Amino acid sequence: MFKVNLLTRDGATVAFNAEPSETLLDAAERASIYLPSSCREGGCGACRVGRTSGDVELMSHSSSALGEAERAAGDILLCRSQARSDLALHAPFDQSAISFSALPERRATLVEMTPAGSSAVRLALQYEDDPAFGVAAQFTAGQFVKATISDGSIGRSYSLANAPNWDGRLELYVRLQPNGAFSTWLRTRAAIGDTLLLEGPQGQFTLDEASAAPRWFVAGGTGLAPALSMLRQMAEFADPRPCRLFFGVNRVEELFARDALDALKRALPQLDVVVCVWKPETAWRGFVGTSAAALAQALSTAEERPDIYVCGPPALIAATEQAGAVGGVAHDRIFSEKFTPA
Ligand code: FES
Repeated sequence: MFKVNLLTRDGATVAFNAEPSETLLDAAERASIYLPSSCREGGCGACRVGRTSGDVELMSHSSSALGEAERAAGDILLCRSQARSDLALHAPFDQSAISFSALPERRATLVEMTPAGSSAVRLALQYEDDPAFGVAAQFTAGQFVKATISDGSIGRSYSLANAPNWDGRLELYVRLQPNGAFSTWLRTRAAIGDTLLLEGPQGQFTLDEASAAPRWFVAGGTGLAPALSMLRQMAEFADPRPCRLFFGVNRVEELFARDALDALKRALPQLDVVVCVWKPETAWRGFVGTSAAALAQALSTAEERPDIYVCGPPALIAATEQAGAVGGVAHDRIFSEKFTPA
């Protein structure tokens, strides 16, 4: 049995024991410490942490979840690592991203389903009253929930786009994948009034409240959702710090959430929004290129190095990290959430 100490971004320490035969994620859960994770099989990178000292056996995993350079720097995936000595780890998230009881499972009703551009839908959900949680939607802006249809057959994770609230309202954006199981359910069977089972909130993609740097958000497609949530939270708190949003889609017809962005600009007057279209086939007066390209351009003239929050497909995360490196942003000031097709 080995001792594991994990230091969070905001300076808290959680400690647990790990058997050599179990993953660090399972060992933590045995001690009722629920660390950020999603796929649990080395595919998403949600459970990546840094290693200060000690040895692990790192099992097979996807290179998009943990790249060569990250591995060389000592990073590990908690869901694919077994302890081989006592360990000191450091996490890229605050203590608030850790849960000390099993993830809540709650029921919610589908109350709205509307198109969001040509390739996504916006879902509004209402939590049902729960004996333990009431109706409140309590989470940290940037987190996600796993939504499962009522017969339990299809479940997918989606970021919340709204801010936490006491009324139990939730908003999700779902990209419609041609053969995706959840997408097919939405297209063919979903109806207003349906019940979904929601597991969460989960995830460590949250604002670093301890940092005083400007906040820049880079979003691709429905990766806009967590940025919307964080910015809406900032608007509610009248947060005065400089912030920018680079929101990109492939084609003009895919644009969505224009009203939500206009409302945000009114509520957060210092917010600068750059809408980017990669391949505009019609006249387009905004930025032409990806949101990572718009970021690179803005970094080249920025006076202060911002914290960067990026959410979208793996290629957008990689391009953003590259733009950040060229633009002088430290690697650990770039926070990311990868969306994988589902
Ligand atoms: S939970 Fe997805 S890589 Fe570990």
